[in-house]
Amino acid sequence: MTDSPAASTAVEAKSPGFSGRTILVTGASGGIGAATVRQLVAAGAKVIASARTLDSLAALCDETGAQPVAFDLTSEESIRDAVEGLALWGVVNCGGFGGEIATPQDTDIDVFDKVISINARGALLVIKYAVPSMIRQGNGGAIVNVSSQASMVALHGHISYGSSKAALDNITRVSALELGKHNIRVNSVNPTVVMTEMSNFYWGRPEIGGPFLEQMPLGRWATVDDVAGPIVFLLSDAASMITGASSRSTAATPAADRRYRRAAAN
Ligand SMILES: NC(=O)c1ccc[n+]([C@@H]2O[C@H](COP(=O)([O-])OP(=O)(O)OC[C@H]3O[C@@H](n4cnc5c(N)ncnc54)[C@H](OP(=O)(O)O)[C@@H]3O)[C@@H](O)[C@H]2O)c1
Repeated sequence: MTDSPAASTAVEAKSPGFSGRTILVTGASGGIGAATVRQLVAAGAKVIASARTLDSLAALCDETGAQPVAFDLTSEESIRDAVEGLALWGVVNCGGFGGEIATPQDTDIDVFDKVISINARGALLVIKYAVPSMIRQGNGGAIVNVSSQASMVALHGHISYGSSKAALDNITRVSALELGKHNIRVNSVNPTVVMTEMSNFYWGRPEIGGPFLEQMPLGRWATVDDVAGPIVFLLSDAASMITGASSRSTAATPAADRRYRRAAAN
């Protein structure tokens, strides 16, 4: 049997190209953010790369041609001034802060407030000030929030960080619900550990990382490109019917799942 022309058209893959689309990537001076900028530029997007300082973005922007913009995710004024005037098609909320490793009883509540402020409140404020112009332009759009596996399972010591990413997952779901009518999709990636500056101080310790790694289905930590790939996919038209999803884009960890289920059963 041969495919008719109509059938071929029906199964034609959607292009992941981003020609004519401007996408803001926060956390672009960090490991995952910079990898995302590189992949988006390679896929044809115009990228605006952000972090707290222009200096921290200079090398990446020289290399990729991304446009740098500086703002602080803890400051609504700083976010509003930087984001409100941008004509964006898409956003990647990748800026984040790991905080501390602590139990609920030992947690430093000032650290908790800072983690929530950057990872959840900051991401929501970026959405708040990016979306009005996305709606006005009328071209639809896509937002990807960089969450974590720590939002979905109970991880030792992750009381602040996990809570901030669980809040971010809710921001993803509710934003998807509210913005769908404007053809703006909102999803998250929820990666496992990537050995960037943020994670190395804890997961890089053999007594912590070793047993965890043994439980990983793929037996290795994720790379920054392992995370950037699914981000680019979720932004692309290949994901045109995916919204409101929080995806364990990089190797779920059964050990953590088992601990979580045990805790839930007690
Ligand atoms: N690494 C992992 O294992 C892992 C796993 C799951 C999820 N994630 C998430 O992935 C994202 C990126 O992580 P990463 O590992 O690439 O981290 P990273 O290399 O430490 O980079 C963190 C980024 O966040 C920015 N940032 C921090 N505080 C900020 C603030 N107040 N205002 C504006 N920007 C701020 C930093 O910019 P400055 O130059 O301004 O410091 C930097 O660009 C984070 O949201 C993180 O929670 C990471």
